[in-house]
Amino acid sequence: MISQRNGARRWWRDAVIYQVYVRSFLDSTGDGIGDLAGVRAGLPYLKKLGVDGIWLSPFYPSPQHDHGYDVADYCDVDPVFGDLAEFERLMAAAHRLGIKVLLDIVPNHCSSEHPYFRDALAAAPGSAARARFHFADGRGPDGAEPPNNWHAMFGGPAWSRVTEADGRPGQWYLHMFTPEQPDWNWRHPEVAAHFDHVLRFWLDRGVDGFRIDVAAGLYKHPDLPDSPDPEADARARDSVNPLAWNQPEVHDVWRHWRAVCEEYTTRDGRERLLVGEVSVPTAREHARYVRPDELHQAFFFDLLSAPWDPDAFRKVISEAMQDIAGTGSTVTWVLNNHDQVRTVTRYGEPVPGGSGLGSARARAAALLMLALPGAAYIYQGEELGLPEVVDLPDDVLTDPIFRRTGSRARIRDGCRVPLPWSGQASPFGFTPQAEGAKPWLPQPEWFAEHATDRALADTRSFWHLYRDGLQLRASLPQLGEGSLRWLDTPPGVLAFVRGDGLVCAVNFGTAPTPAPVRDVPLLSSTPCEPGVLGGSTAAWWITDDIATD
Ligand code: GLC
Repeated sequence: MISQRNGARRWWRDAVIYQVYVRSFLDSTGDGIGDLAGVRAGLPYLKKLGVDGIWLSPFYPSPQHDHGYDVADYCDVDPVFGDLAEFERLMAAAHRLGIKVLLDIVPNHCSSEHPYFRDALAAAPGSAARARFHFADGRGPDGAEPPNNWHAMFGGPAWSRVTEADGRPGQWYLHMFTPEQPDWNWRHPEVAAHFDHVLRFWLDRGVDGFRIDVAAGLYKHPDLPDSPDPEADARARDSVNPLAWNQPEVHDVWRHWRAVCEEYTTRDGRERLLVGEVSVPTAREHARYVRPDELHQAFFFDLLSAPWDPDAFRKVISEAMQDIAGTGSTVTWVLNNHDQVRTVTRYGEPVPGGSGLGSARARAAALLMLALPGAAYIYQGEELGLPEVVDLPDDVLTDPIFRRTGSRARIRDGCRVPLPWSGQASPFGFTPQAEGAKPWLPQPEWFAEHATDRALADTRSFWHLYRDGLQLRASLPQLGEGSLRWLDTPPGVLAFVRGDGLVCAVNFGTAPTPAPVRDVPLLSSTPCEPGVLGGSTAAWWITDDIATD
């Protein structure tokens, strides 16, 4: 396996991590919501698939205004998902199978139900309790205007006004996401101390690392000045306001967290991984987060945002390799996650049962990603070729982006619909049928085509492609960490060679084209004749015809 290749200390460098969106993975209790016992039950499936680790989306106690990214208690399990004893059973079961476990930690903001925030609301302006957050007096007559003009990522102002103990409208607090997600004030030492406690709480329970939410956040400009473009974040739905994100002080936090992780590694030789969700304007800025004493890795989202175009893909891949060089990190490739429209739909299939083009391209993209140097992240359902569910009725949508903007544009529920496991009708084995509860988001009928039981039985399925790709990746020294060299190719085709003669080629066009290698491929995303690369197809070969560096 990959972990054997890189050893206990360096396992993360080319690991394949499977993102488990817990509420949509598998429900063990019959309430229609996935849970930790469901994840434990699904571990053999994930082992069979061949992933090195799982990243669990937040399962902490939370009022679920942003599906757990509003944390009310960082050191417990929400009863909807189980309890600490169940978490420990899951950890033990995963480790028995050799599967690493990453938790999702949310340090930029908490829930408005967090005890510290409740204390802050109950305390007076200027109190120590309020200093853990960003409370400020409003502007204008009676302080009725927010302290600055920043807009929140999910729409609306980034400030909400509180009612003071005397019943009058009072100060405002900052929330870069929803009002139910107040931002921590990282300039307050107790905030850092609180997160030290949280890290150690989970590290002591054996976790292998953390995916860090909004890792370019945490610190804001100390003066909280007006922004010349206050709606930039909401417009881009990305953290681009230079006063609210990517402040230099945040790097000290990552240095400190890295040191905490190293302390655990020194004890038992097992390296813990810190992988950050880092959205910053330039690749150079991005690279600063993965300097040798900071985060091990930061998600590289440019591949995910690239259109299905060979020049765009080549550009983002080359840039990623260039930027990461010299940092000590490896690139973390990602095509899907719980915030994005799924690849099958993004690459061309607005409705299921369409031409099949989106599926073919998504299969090709998967082989491309698994052949690239570095680590890869797979989002649950990606291995089933699930398309986005684009026609959810408004009254079932739960994404706060929809609630706050009233816009269906780019809502995230469509990629979060509970997984189909078996059978012909909803709940497709997601929830025990005897209980009769419905999955928390409705599953369309066509999910039947993608159920895991069908996928496992059909060797032409997405599942088998991912499984075969992962198996080869684990056994071939050419794959995983390392470098790549581009090959000369006709227009519309990308091809590169890895290490000792492993060639990966992708035909972005729809017509067949001569393959760069004449042999039958080791693996291809559609069946290939020798010497021919089909349309919308990727393939891998091992050959001695191509000179390597
Ligand atoms: C990250 C998460 C997203 C969440 C947001 C606020 O971008 O991936 O799901 O809504 O942070 O925590």
